[in-house]
Amino acid sequence: MKHLLSTAGLPRATAVGLLDTAERMSEVEHREIKKLPVLRGRTVVNLFFEDSTRTRISFEAAAKRLSADVINFAARGSSVSKGESLKDTAQTLEAMGADAVVIRHASSGAAEQLARSGWIDAGVVNAGDGTHEHPTQALLDAFTLRRHRAAVAGTDPAGTDLAGMRVAIVGDVLHSRVARSNLWLLTTLGADVTLVAPPTLVPVGAGGWPARISYDLDEVLDGGVDAVMMLRVQAERMQAAFFPTAREYARRWGFDAARLAALDRAGAAGARAAAAETIIMHPGPMNRGLEIAAEAADSPRSTVLAQVRNGVSVRMAVLYHLLAGGPDDPSTGSAADA
Ligand code: CP
Repeated sequence: MKHLLSTAGLPRATAVGLLDTAERMSEVEHREIKKLPVLRGRTVVNLFFEDSTRTRISFEAAAKRLSADVINFAARGSSVSKGESLKDTAQTLEAMGADAVVIRHASSGAAEQLARSGWIDAGVVNAGDGTHEHPTQALLDAFTLRRHRAAVAGTDPAGTDLAGMRVAIVGDVLHSRVARSNLWLLTTLGADVTLVAPPTLVPVGAGGWPARISYDLDEVLDGGVDAVMMLRVQAERMQAAFFPTAREYARRWGFDAARLAALDRAGAAGARAAAAETIIMHPGPMNRGLEIAAEAADSPRSTVLAQVRNGVSVRMAVLYHLLAGGPDDPSTGSAADA
């Protein structure tokens, strides 16, 4: 794998291979010495033109746990403010020895452009480009779903698939690269996806996507789902005309305390298939009180922090496959030693 730019078209075998490697990477977390030597001498550049907490820091942690050197670049405070182009910025960083560039950019297609332009030889990982894709978020979400299903079934995650798993992706689908990457990846892995959103926040063309579309969150929850993935309302990309009032949004499309209580009641009564096991996901950062209530975000059903933890293992797997060729067993260090 030379680059990871999107989950659209990502072969199922590649996706499963990354998830399986991430499982082995997570075992490193439980060791006394948490570092593997497999990327010693390699340099990973985090090239962030948009703000980030989880993605940037977890790529940094992932690279360091594989013994790579890390250079963090934030556009804010750099020569980008003097008008330096993406090409010149990337070539400058590659001249400092970048083997892989992890890029987040406000423009959809920026990662693809960097990878395909021939400006640099380094591998490119898309860490979120505009409203287009966020493939490592989708991989860590699939990893979280697979672990949840395996825990419920009492099986090994590596041998567990997502076939038939019912996932509702809820909220600001229009602006969400997380929704798009999840839709492509989860359907590749066999899950049934329903998009739930206000009509103004459903993208034109979504009717052709491999998902059911609903405007009614309660109807979807009543039908039974294995996971509800709440999306951040992206105020920074929102036009006022697209958005109901915050109060109406929270009431109709937010996972509020009343919906949590209804889910708990249904689970206790066995009234809805899988209600007892339904998890509540959110990629973060959360707008508490808008798309998700504190009661739901902090409930035992919430996987928000598990998703963050899983993100490190998944990003270790991605860097390992990119820079050490995967899919040898990373715990032996064999690929880097070869
Ligand atoms: N989920 C996610 O991409 O979070 P950050 O913006 O904090 O990286």
